[in-house]
Amino acid sequence: MTEEPDLVAAYGYPRAAWLRLNMVSSADGGAWLKGVSGGLSGAGDKRIFGLLRGLADVILAGAATVRVEGYGPVEPRESWRALRVGRSAAPPIAVVTRRLDLDLGGPLFADTEPSARTIVFTTEAAPKDRRREAARSAEVVVAGDERVDLVRATRELRARGLGRILCEGGPRLNAQLSAAGLVDELCLTVSPLLIGGDAARISNGIAAQHALGLAHVLEEDGFLFCRYVREGA
Ligand SMILES: NC(=O)c1ccc[n+]([C@@H]2O[C@H](COP(=O)([O-])OP(=O)(O)OC[C@H]3O[C@@H](n4cnc5c(N)ncnc54)[C@H](OP(=O)(O)O)[C@@H]3O)[C@@H](O)[C@H]2O)c1
Repeated sequence: MTEEPDLVAAYGYPRAAWLRLNMVSSADGGAWLKGVSGGLSGAGDKRIFGLLRGLADVILAGAATVRVEGYGPVEPRESWRALRVGRSAAPPIAVVTRRLDLDLGGPLFADTEPSARTIVFTTEAAPKDRRREAARSAEVVVAGDERVDLVRATRELRARGLGRILCEGGPRLNAQLSAAGLVDELCLTVSPLLIGGDAARISNGIAAQHALGLAHVLEEDGFLFCRYVREGA
């Protein structure tokens, strides 16, 4: 980015009820390198990743992403202060999981602020003892029998005043959100790397076709930062 654009203006949420996906991929479409996304990222991507967190009411993630990427509570940043007037200092994390195979004693559960407790969307099929244990430190919402109904989960978030949803993946969760027609926007960083291998694309699973309009594309150090909005969103 030769001239620093006004990123807050460029990434402001258009509405109070809006679901944004933020993902990074290699130039040949892979969503991870050596099992994690970090190797695909760069300085500009990290800046935008941080800003998008500061703008969001809540961060939604699939359980595999939480496990593999070692999610903890979001650390508030001084630069977010003005963005977050009237909201918690940092957005809570909302995890989607059927099995509840998460580190329930770890930082994502034990170290959250009361205003930003972790939210767990799970199913009737989840082991009852795990549900009880999670409920000691997190807000547990049962939103389906065998699978979390994502329409219901996003409705639950909106009912809590958490309508600006930032989904950080992973690809299997993204595909379901897309199939349910819930994705309003895709922020995609294209990393200048060819990686081959068998990494999934950023949306992996059930097929769903949506036309996107390109709202902007920025560039820094060969990385492209694309913001797409779903037609009709
Ligand atoms: N490139 C990027 O920007 C980016 C971003 C995020 C992640 N990643 C990478 O993507 C990989 C992980 O992504 P992934 O696609 O394998 O998995 P994922 O979408 O993060 O998580 C899948 C898991 O989420 C739970 N889940 C998803 N949908 C559910 C539903 N409807 N009901 C109940 N539970 C549901 C299940 O958890 P349980 O198994 O607990 O039941 C499922 O195993 C990692 O390698 C990570 O590094 C890349």
